[in-house]
Amino acid sequence: MLTDLKAQSPDKILMLIEEFKADTRQGKIDLGVGVYKDPQGVTPVMRAVKAAEQRIWETQTTKAYTGLAGEPDYRNALATMVLGDLPADRLASVASVGGTGAIRQALELARLANPGVRVFVSNPTWPNHLSIMAFMGLPYTEYRYFDAETRGVDFDGMKADIAQAGKGDVVLLHGCCHNPTGANLTLEQWSEVVAILQKSGAIPLIDLAYQGFGDGLDADAEATRLVARSLPEVLIAASCSKNFGIYRERTGILIALADTTKGRDLAQGSMAFLNRQNFSFPPDHGARIVSTILMDDALRADWAAELEEVRNTMLGLRDQLAAELRDLSGSDRFDFIRHHRGMFSRLGATPEQVQRLKTDAAIYMVGDSRLNIAGLNRDTVPVLARAIIDAGI
Ligand code: LMR
Repeated sequence: MLTDLKAQSPDKILMLIEEFKADTRQGKIDLGVGVYKDPQGVTPVMRAVKAAEQRIWETQTTKAYTGLAGEPDYRNALATMVLGDLPADRLASVASVGGTGAIRQALELARLANPGVRVFVSNPTWPNHLSIMAFMGLPYTEYRYFDAETRGVDFDGMKADIAQAGKGDVVLLHGCCHNPTGANLTLEQWSEVVAILQKSGAIPLIDLAYQGFGDGLDADAEATRLVARSLPEVLIAASCSKNFGIYRERTGILIALADTTKGRDLAQGSMAFLNRQNFSFPPDHGARIVSTILMDDALRADWAAELEEVRNTMLGLRDQLAAELRDLSGSDRFDFIRHHRGMFSRLGATPEQVQRLKTDAAIYMVGDSRLNIAGLNRDTVPVLARAIIDAGI
């Protein structure tokens, strides 16, 4: 039987990790997978995470199963961080296996509610969105998003395309720090998106994987909060991988907002059911780290301060890279790097140019020319800038 399996094509982002490891050249630069690295190239365990783990180690008396939906403390604390306050009469939530698990459960929930659901996704989007939907056999349609000319958002195209989604369809939106482009909507543009969804009745699914990496913890949640208070039904898949730096703990949440208590209760029951079918109880260690931090004033303040350091480091690198490229190219055509937000920017280079960066300069980025800003430091920025110009980008 096993020999009847078809070989799966490997995930392109994860493949880069292996390729990079195998490269023996000195000075190679990894701008691939979306993992934060400090200027020394280390993905640190955040101070508050270490402290929370110590506290858990000292006080935890059992590892018995937790609730099928995850711990209420965790869900309340994280949902509050996302939404600002908790509309308890509308809110259902479950702890998930990372942000990816929340996306998968959200899509399964939508299909349970509407077997004919279609999903509208940005072009481009995180490749795993597409891969998950293809695996599930869910039909999806891409809406215009990235303007290759300006490296900003093609907002007119986006509006026209998402207006095609109807009642019973899902529109997948990146709450902040768009992956892979780094190009984001303004709050005014979000209001227009809300108006379109209000008219059509399509339900938004917001992927919020980088809260705190763009303009700040609250600023990055503004759009999600606007959508949450403006539309009757909303799905939100949030991840703690990046903002708490707990990638391998697989810590996320799926939130469903309903307009009736009946809808809320049905969503809560269905989401717990989906947990049970897929993996039973959600992972607890990461969730417990997050609730320990968010529910303790001192730990929370320390974590938020460190997250700000991370965010400001990335903004500094963006400024430096844009300035170097301005000097080298004698033009402002790379200024979009300064305006993008989050971990990524899409350069707009051809696959051949991306390949040239790898072959000639040992610089690794995703084939669509997405670069991870957090893979840089002050010394490697000039190296990248020179290589970009040399590759003819
Ligand atoms: C990325 O986009 O690089 C991250 O979200 C990591 C992943 O799982 O792809």
